[in-house]
Amino acid sequence: VTAAGRRVLLLGGDGFVARELARDLPLLGWEVLSTSRRPGAALRLDLADPDAFVPPPGVAAAVLVAAVARPAACEADPDGSRLVNADAPARLLPRLAGAGVRVLALSSDKVFDGTVPMRRRDDPPCPAGEYGRQKAAMEASALAAGAAVLRLSRVVAPGFALFAGWRADLAAGRPITPFADMTLAPVEARRVAALVSAILLSGGDGVYQASGDRDLTYAEAAQFLAAAWGADPALVRPLPAPVAVAGARLPAHTTLDMSRERGEFGVGNADALACVRLAAGVREGLPMRVPDPGSL
Ligand SMILES: NC(=O)c1ccc[n+]([C@@H]2O[C@H](COP(=O)([O-])OP(=O)(O)OC[C@H]3O[C@@H](n4cnc5c(N)ncnc54)[C@H](OP(=O)(O)O)[C@@H]3O)[C@@H](O)[C@H]2O)c1
Repeated sequence: VTAAGRRVLLLGGDGFVARELARDLPLLGWEVLSTSRRPGAALRLDLADPDAFVPPPGVAAAVLVAAVARPAACEADPDGSRLVNADAPARLLPRLAGAGVRVLALSSDKVFDGTVPMRRRDDPPCPAGEYGRQKAAMEASALAAGAAVLRLSRVVAPGFALFAGWRADLAAGRPITPFADMTLAPVEARRVAALVSAILLSGGDGVYQASGDRDLTYAEAAQFLAAAWGADPALVRPLPAPVAVAGARLPAHTTLDMSRERGEFGVGNADALACVRLAAGVREGLPMRVPDPGSL
C-alpha cells in the first residue's frame, strides 16, 4: 500500500470498534470509507447477503469489522449469527482478496478457552462457546484467502459507556454491581488502530494479536475507579455474572501474546490499568491501588 493508495474500507462502520477506527485511521494517513447495513447507506453491505456487494473503486485495503459481537447473542441464535460471523466472511473475503484488496479480519481472544494467559498466535484455537467457534471458522477461511487476522481482547476508548455509567451511579450515591468473576485485559482503541495501519502497510499475513498486559475482573476495575473518583467503596458491590452474560463458562484469561507485534512494529501489550484510566477519563498520578482480589 503506497501513500497514494491509502484508502481503506471498513466492512461494517457503525459499531464501537469501527467508529474508533474511523476516527483514528485518518490521523495515521488513511482515507476511510465505511459500509453499513442500514437502509439508505451509501455503501450498503448486509452480511446476511454478501454476494451482491461490490467494493468501491480505489480501495487498497479492507477491514472486516462487522459481526454479531456479543457471545450471548451467538448462543441465543447460533445459526443466524454463524451466517454473519463465519459464512459471509468465507464468501466475501476471498472475493475481495482476489480483486487485489488487502484484507484484515478482526477476531477475538474467544477463539481460545480462557484457561491459559498470554495465548500465542500459533496455539491451536480451542473455543469454549459459539462466538469463539464462529470466529475460529472465520479466521480459517480468511487465512486461506491470504488475508491477515487481528485478534483482540476487550477494546476500550475514552468515554467507554460501562465506566461512564459506573461514574454517574457512584456520583449519585447509587451502588454498582460489577462482575466479580468476569475478566477483561483492556487494549485501547488507538493502539488497535495503530496496529491495523501497520499491518496493512506491511502487507503481512497470518495472525496478529492485541490485548492488555493482564486480566482484571470487572470488580477490580470498578474498585480501582471508585478509589480514583473518591467514591464510597461500599457502593461497589461485586456480583457473579449471570449466565445470560457469561455463557456457559467464564474465561479466567483473555490476554494474548504480542511478541510478533513488538518485534515487527514496536507495539506490545497495553498497560491494562492505564487503559482503564484512559477509558474512564481518570488522570494519571491520582492515588490508586489495585485491590486484592481476595478481598472481593
Ligand atoms: N469491542 C471489543 O472489545 C472487541 C473485542 C474483540 C473482538 N472484537 C471484534 O471487533 C469487531 C467489532 O466489534 P464491536 O465491539 O465494535 O461490535 P459492535 O459495536 O456490536 O458492532 C458490530 C457491528 O456489526 C454490524 N453488523 C451486525 N450484523 C451485521 C450484518 N448482518 N451485516 C452488516 N453488519 C452487521 C452491526 O450493525 P448495526 O450497527 O447496524 O447493528 C454493528 O455496527 C467484531 O468483529 C468483534 O468480534 C471486538
